[in-house]
Amino acid sequence: MAYFTWSSIYSVGNHEMDSQHKVLIDLINRMHEAMRTGKGSSELGGIFKEMVNYAQFHFSAEEKLLITAAFPDYAKQKAEHDSFIKKQKDFEAQYKAGKLALSIEVLNFLREWLTGHIQVEDKKYSPYLKAKGLS
Ligand SMILES: [Fe+2]
Repeated sequence: MAYFTWSSIYSVGNHEMDSQHKVLIDLINRMHEAMRTGKGSSELGGIFKEMVNYAQFHFSAEEKLLITAAFPDYAKQKAEHDSFIKKQKDFEAQYKAGKLALSIEVLNFLREWLTGHIQVEDKKYSPYLKAKGLS
């Protein structure tokens, strides 16, 4: 059983966004697997870095789409994305400085944030994408 499994309850009604959310989930699962199997910190750190980079790529793709769709809650989305990126950068800096272990608590935070964000904020844009033929 994977640590984090995508299911249709996370669908935002847009194939590209769903696919990108699945990639993020997969990266979180890879971190979990590296932890579970006692992989070295360099491997774990590498996957974490990949996740941070991919999250930025995904957020910017999502933001572009929401601008195209004239989504009225765009500012809230952007603020949540920015604060998540800041938090990840914070983790990264602390990790690099040896002040933070990439622990299950960090993973739980990433998983909870992503599920909450998708189910609350992202779901709000589905009808707007649909109305513009962007789903
Ligand atoms: Fe989002």
